[in-house]
Amino acid sequence: MKNINPTKTFSWKKLKNHFQEIKKITINDLFITDKKRFENFSINFENMILFDYSKNILNQKTINYLVNLAKETKCFDAIYSMFNGKKINVTEQQSVLHTALRYNNLNFFLKDKKIYNNIDKILEKIKNISNDIISEKWKGYTNKKIKNIINIGIGGSQLGPLMVTESLKSYKNKLNLFFLSNIDPDQLISIINQINPEESLFIISSKTFSTQETITNALSIREWFSKNINTNLNKNIFSKHFIAVTNNINEAIKFGIDKKNILPLLSEIGGRFSLWSSIGILISLSIGFNNFQKLLQGANKMDYHFFSTPIEKNIPIIMALISIWYSNFWNTETEAIIPYCDNMRFLPSYLQQLNMESNGKSIDRNGNKIKYQTSSIIWGDVGTNGQHSFFQMLHQGTKLIPCDFIATAIPNHNKYKNHHTKLIANYIAQTKALAFGNINDYICKQNIYQCCFGNKPSNSIFLKKITPYNLGLLISYYEHKIFIQGVILNIFSFDQWGVELGKKITNYLVENINKNIQKIIKYDDSSKGLINFYKYFN
Ligand code: F6P
Repeated sequence: MKNINPTKTFSWKKLKNHFQEIKKITINDLFITDKKRFENFSINFENMILFDYSKNILNQKTINYLVNLAKETKCFDAIYSMFNGKKINVTEQQSVLHTALRYNNLNFFLKDKKIYNNIDKILEKIKNISNDIISEKWKGYTNKKIKNIINIGIGGSQLGPLMVTESLKSYKNKLNLFFLSNIDPDQLISIINQINPEESLFIISSKTFSTQETITNALSIREWFSKNINTNLNKNIFSKHFIAVTNNINEAIKFGIDKKNILPLLSEIGGRFSLWSSIGILISLSIGFNNFQKLLQGANKMDYHFFSTPIEKNIPIIMALISIWYSNFWNTETEAIIPYCDNMRFLPSYLQQLNMESNGKSIDRNGNKIKYQTSSIIWGDVGTNGQHSFFQMLHQGTKLIPCDFIATAIPNHNKYKNHHTKLIANYIAQTKALAFGNINDYICKQNIYQCCFGNKPSNSIFLKKITPYNLGLLISYYEHKIFIQGVILNIFSFDQWGVELGKKITNYLVENINKNIQKIIKYDDSSKGLINFYKYFN
């Protein structure tokens, strides 16, 4: 990968000048001057997903300069390096191989083909365990069938499988899925109140097997389990109810997990990219292994597109460039993700981690402090709910907020078809209202308070239907978009050192909060005040 400061490129300078021209033009003007704007600024991906980026404040000149920016910053060098297995996660000296998990022979340059054997073995294990549980061959220690699957994990060890299994709810089997992530015992208590240990399988998902929240929850669950079974806990019983997904096999064994119940999570797979890996056992358990494979195949299809399509038509690259256009030239600070699909309600929080943990950096690949914008703040909620809360600000607020509107053409249910038609009408109406406003309407001329000035940008991402394959396409699209943003912005997208300091201070505090007031004295005045408030009541 080349380490190029994007602001020093020729294209960046061109874009700066171009911004002065285009900021006077509205989306409305752009549609008036280009009668084929939709055709020119949308990509229909195999009739599976339509990416319409025509309602943005940009024209062909903008795209040309942005494409040149991607060329100048050597995007394809970076893409080949990733698929090639080069150690592009430099600060952790790791390759980045989540794409290799999706039956990919794009990673054909990989010298170490052993990775494929490992991946095959992991997939085989996912298949066997999920088939055994779903078919009820795997039973609990009292011979009862397993009804509940409880994932104990946080971050990438939770958000991916949670978002996927909820998005694909209509493919779910009868197994009840629970996600225990928060260290707040309210969540633990709520889950244990709903399950019977004899019918429950606990999956401890942690790449490091050291995350405080996960290990604390796992220990409490183990204790609860042993107290709530009507016999003494032994190895055999434990192995019928506990499995682990981890890169830290030794710690999992020490915890008591049977070796055969450990699904390895390869070091080359980052936590937030791990749903394709052994973390995907949750997905396979919930929607079956065949559907899990279709998810991988969909992602693989987008990998091919990303790897082999010229920048001008490369969906993840074009969308990454549009994000950079807004954050760095229009000075936008946030991007909203708005799925018009209730089952996709976890997509914003999933993309928060994917985007902000990857690109929330301020030191460039040369070790210099960055003077431009990197990750936007990602937020959002489902339509139509959001329309009755934060949309007011999208339409009339002072901030410019680019949005991704996501919907599916074919509904999950034929029943209540009229709901879906109304949902889609809302989906299209909102992007139209944002882009064009109502400045020419009588109402606006009469009453300024009712005026929507328009010129608010959005992308419409329209899936044919929410299927495992199409969801795979969509997630892989976002992964690559975020990767390319990081490449162009000259940052390391695959580490997350920023989360470490907070963990360190927490551990120190946990150790000292109840005993050594002297040590706590060295805390800042505010933190001391907070500690004292806590100690007063405890
Ligand atoms: O704290 C951040 C993080 O390291 C994420 O990157 C990761 O997905 C999450 O914690 C969970 O980590 P683990 O799977 O090792 O428990």
